[in-house]
Amino acid sequence: MPKLASYNGFIDSIENIKISPMSRAFLFSDSVYEVISFYQNKFIDFERHLDRLKHSLDETKIACSIDECSAEIKKLLNESDLESGYIYFQVSRGIDSIRSHFFDESDCERFGFIEKFSFFNQSPLKVMLVDDIRWQRCDIKSTSLLGNVLQMNDAKSMDCNEIIMHKNGQLTEGGASNIFFVKNNKIFTPKLSPNILPGITRHQVIKIIKQKEFDFIEGTFDINDLKEASSIWFTSTTKGIIEVKEIVNLETKINPKCELLKVCKEAFVSKYFS
Ligand code: PDD
Repeated sequence: MPKLASYNGFIDSIENIKISPMSRAFLFSDSVYEVISFYQNKFIDFERHLDRLKHSLDETKIACSIDECSAEIKKLLNESDLESGYIYFQVSRGIDSIRSHFFDESDCERFGFIEKFSFFNQSPLKVMLVDDIRWQRCDIKSTSLLGNVLQMNDAKSMDCNEIIMHKNGQLTEGGASNIFFVKNNKIFTPKLSPNILPGITRHQVIKIIKQKEFDFIEGTFDINDLKEASSIWFTSTTKGIIEVKEIVNLETKINPKCELLKVCKEAFVSKYFS
């Protein structure tokens, strides 16, 4: 079956979807998005993803009905024969008649596609520590990802598959994920701020950590904390929980047999993927 996509509610194979070059998504990256996973034909935390999409739309003043988005995302899953994967869904401010930074009232433009994906057996990641060069509203899930793209591709040239970003030494998040680390048998993660995306998986993992009553601190941490960490993890919709095996430009004390990681991973898989 060809890859299915949706454009303003019409479903077709992705090759048949035609998008205007005057789309503000194309000209200005004036758009927001979500990546929502599904397993055994059911979405994982659908409402929470929609709430975050609503937050992104509100903060960027893109007028779009969240109910319409919800119906279109559900329709994509219903019309597909995939059992496990994710839906990418983006909303742009719409199509301009002239290219202008100033926007008028326009009809929003919705585009999504469904992708097969297996969430299991992903390998530990080699990562690079980099400057966080992004804008100051990373709590908005905007498609303007040039900061992430540039830094991730620098890391790729060092054979890395992710990055850990910091602002003046203060840890923020991964290039496409949130970060957690373990030190002295306590779990830590940077607290939410405009510099961090409030990850849905981050939320799920924190719920598990609290249920298990592990020592846990959300706060402000820096590169020195990573040097002392016995385990570092990324969380995201497509990664689930994946551990770091090496930071190419930082010496660490990572122990691949971290018990807290093992317990959290098992609880995560059993809650969302069984
Ligand atoms: N990225 N931080 C950033 C910068 C991200 O891009 C993502 C997800 C996350 C984790 O959020 P969540 O747990 O809700 O997936 C954190 C998606 C998967 C992507 O852009 O492909």
